[in-house]
Amino acid sequence: MTETNAVATAGAGSGGDADVLLQVENLVKYFPVSSRGLFQEKLYVHAVEGVSLSVRRGQTFGIVGETGSGKSTLARCVARLYDITSGRVIFDGQDITKLSQRRMRPLRREIQMIFQDPIGSLNPRRRVGSIIGDPFAIHGTASGAERKRRVQELMERVGLNPEHYNRFPAEFSGGQRQRIGVARALAFQPKLIICDEPVSALDVSIQAQVINLLADLQSEFGLTYIFIAHDLSVVRHVSNTVGVMYLGKLTEVAPSEELFTVPRHPYTGALLSAVPVPDPDQSDERQQIILVGDVPSPILPPSGCRFHPRCPKAAPVCVSTDPPLEPRLGDGPQHTAACHLPMAAGENLGDFHPSIDETERIIETPSILLDGDEDGGVPGATSVGGSLSQSGEGSQS
Ligand SMILES: Nc1ncnc2c1ncn2[C@@H]1O[C@H](COP(=O)(O)OP(=O)(O)O)[C@@H](O)[C@H]1O
Ligand code: SF4
Ligand SMILES: [Mg+2]
Repeated sequence: MTETNAVATAGAGSGGDADVLLQVENLVKYFPVSSRGLFQEKLYVHAVEGVSLSVRRGQTFGIVGETGSGKSTLARCVARLYDITSGRVIFDGQDITKLSQRRMRPLRREIQMIFQDPIGSLNPRRRVGSIIGDPFAIHGTASGAERKRRVQELMERVGLNPEHYNRFPAEFSGGQRQRIGVARALAFQPKLIICDEPVSALDVSIQAQVINLLADLQSEFGLTYIFIAHDLSVVRHVSNTVGVMYLGKLTEVAPSEELFTVPRHPYTGALLSAVPVPDPDQSDERQQIILVGDVPSPILPPSGCRFHPRCPKAAPVCVSTDPPLEPRLGDGPQHTAACHLPMAAGENLGDFHPSIDETERIIETPSILLDGDEDGGVPGATSVGGSLSQSGEGSQS
């Protein structure tokens, strides 16, 4: 997964390219929440706001961002577990944006998801052998002794003891349960695996094992991954391309090494400043950037650049105009950033102070009214808002 010579196409615009397995165009996902005010104005969580990206076959697109930035929602829209408010998802050359459940069914096995909490997605009352064997049963591809043989082969391939075929999920450790989830996903012979924080709940030593397993399987089976994490150091080593999300938007997309060496967006710069440096001699040179303020509400996101209330470089143009995601400072087409005042190589964010003061920031824009509710009620969703993450915590939660 780490070969950077095979750099994925970043951003939109590569439609029609046979190498592109997944193309997401201007994807928007709003969740309706309770109404407010005298006229019962309808409010929406702007969970994903105009995301475009493409993922090439056999490669990994990493997505990183704080909790609440819209990563899981984007993943679920791509897998069509959620209906999409607007935009398009093109998978393997087919527009799947509006496919009915029935027409999605054959594609479901081609897009598999691996979740952070494998126990939540594994039925505790079923034996592991039958859980992993489901895909063979569902598709009638193997039964009886043949199914057992293939399940045990898979168990062995993902590093589980095939003799544990009859055990229940609770009898396995966290890392082993994640391997069960991987084996089950593999049994479907998917084209795309969306890994949504697959190692976030695991100990660091186990994280590396699961990541290495995913990397080995990728080269063996030519798999394509979307790999989501809130930890930059995790996505760095697994991704060909990385996209950084903030409040529902992609703020920067770049080939992995380039993002880490020449970040253009101040948000990426701030996230990177919080990643521990392995070499203690270097750590003195790097200043950790503590972002001011909380992550604003995704119900009434800030005007212009959504990062402006917290950005050390914010200027008046950032409040009035939303910067497009495009190449900056002479970067190639694969490195795009949504920023009016991108960072030059070696620039130190700590040297900057916003040229606007607090009163000039527009933290709540008027909400957008939609025609009808796409998703029905979403009880409990009103608790989202400005409490997603505290400032001063290295800006990752
Ligand atoms: N079903 C839902 N109903 C209402 N709001 C939701 C729902 N799912 C997610 N959200 C909100 O959408 C935003 C993005 O959430 P999510 O995609 O889970 O972010 P992440 O995976 O980056 O942590 C958050 O503000 C979250 O509270
Ligand atoms: S557009 Fe302005 S506020 Fe947004 S990241 Fe760039 S400098 Fe900061
Ligand atoms: Mg998530």
